[in-house]
Amino acid sequence: MSLETVVPNPPIPAESALGVSAPYDPTDFDASVMTTYGRFPLALERGQGCRVWDTQGREYLDFVAGIATCTLGHAHPALVETVTRQIKTLHHVSNLYYIPVQGELAKWIVDHSCADHVFFCNSGAEANEGAIKLARKYAHTVLDIEKPVILTAKASFHGRTLATITATGQPKYQKNFAPLVPGFNYVPYNDIRALENAITDLDEGNQRVCAIMLEALQGEGGVRPGELDYFLRVRKICDENGILLIMDEVQVGMGRTGKYWGYENLGIEPDIFTSAKGLAGGIPIGAMMCKKFCDVFEPGDHASTFGGNPFACAAALTVGQTLEQENILQNVQQRGEQLRTRLRAIAHRYPNLVEEVRGWGLINGMELNAEIEMTSIDVVKAAMAEGLLLVPAGPKVIRFVPPLIVSAAEIDAAAQAVEKAIASLTT
Ligand SMILES: Cc1ncc(COP(=O)(O)O)c(C=O)c1O
Repeated sequence: MSLETVVPNPPIPAESALGVSAPYDPTDFDASVMTTYGRFPLALERGQGCRVWDTQGREYLDFVAGIATCTLGHAHPALVETVTRQIKTLHHVSNLYYIPVQGELAKWIVDHSCADHVFFCNSGAEANEGAIKLARKYAHTVLDIEKPVILTAKASFHGRTLATITATGQPKYQKNFAPLVPGFNYVPYNDIRALENAITDLDEGNQRVCAIMLEALQGEGGVRPGELDYFLRVRKICDENGILLIMDEVQVGMGRTGKYWGYENLGIEPDIFTSAKGLAGGIPIGAMMCKKFCDVFEPGDHASTFGGNPFACAAALTVGQTLEQENILQNVQQRGEQLRTRLRAIAHRYPNLVEEVRGWGLINGMELNAEIEMTSIDVVKAAMAEGLLLVPAGPKVIRFVPPLIVSAAEIDAAAQAVEKAIASLTT
């Protein structure tokens, strides 16, 4: 079955789904919602496949997908069917009881990854908190380290809770939230010498490195892929020193890179890895996976009220099964290649503006020249005017993370819109 048959291009609605064909008035919203986000002046109310519509019925090609989250796009028939059935049957019960569909999802993840065991929660940050706790307990109970340290990368992103902003190697996320959580040190990404030094420098007294936590490709940090040689060496260092390797797969896991997990691009297996965003295609879920040897959690060590409830697990299981049934990983590889080719052609036509196009599968970045004034936000706004939604990954990188079901025609349309957007900024 082709993807086009599964998710047909919907007709453009004559009027908005709410029946109001008027610009959204954000006055009440702004008065009552905390201002933690810088928002674009756009209110979306309907989606289908890779397209979304605003309150005035204007159509956009969605290359943001809830920031690498809506794996199957919007209103995918399989996901609609599952969540509708599940909400009518049983949507939430406590982990005091067995939840069969949670077990099915865990088995699916175990069967499709290097993991042996899974813990379910609700977000990427929460999954990473679980990984940090597991690594610390392993350090205390197995490695006998009194003050365990976790090394993370500069320019990384691991979430917004206190422990995960500390793990995040970007001071801008930590500013004004001191005191941070102790036990984290930072090393430059893809720099093996710096990592080796950081481990040796720390190896004294009661303080030692117990884990290294890395993204296979740094998403928020500017769509920077990990280097094969670096990760092979990291794995070796971890094995030789009894250090756990934690991979944060929150943005790149669940098929986004054309493989189920980002680490598969690097020829290694982590001891612990985390997932969220795309796992249930936009229904909130998080998961922390580990190998059996480091699963030191016991009853009472960790918990989450909503974690692994039937609603979220049924959705994630459907996403996983749909990835397989519709051969979506192949689509990710082919459409990713097509997108990079198109973006590189644009870069070739604007050599003074575009520095580089890079990425894996359907997570790609276009980096603007550092010397020019144009920022990623400028391009994102100009693209929005052309009917294409994009998201920055830092001040100079424009990120392309469409649903994994995106078609060849939609990639072409997006590339045309980006080129028009760039042209509009240069004239
Ligand atoms: C690599 C990575 N880890 C963790 C997170 C945090 O996930 P959440 O926002 O679901 O807490 C993100 C979010 O962008 C991420 O990209």
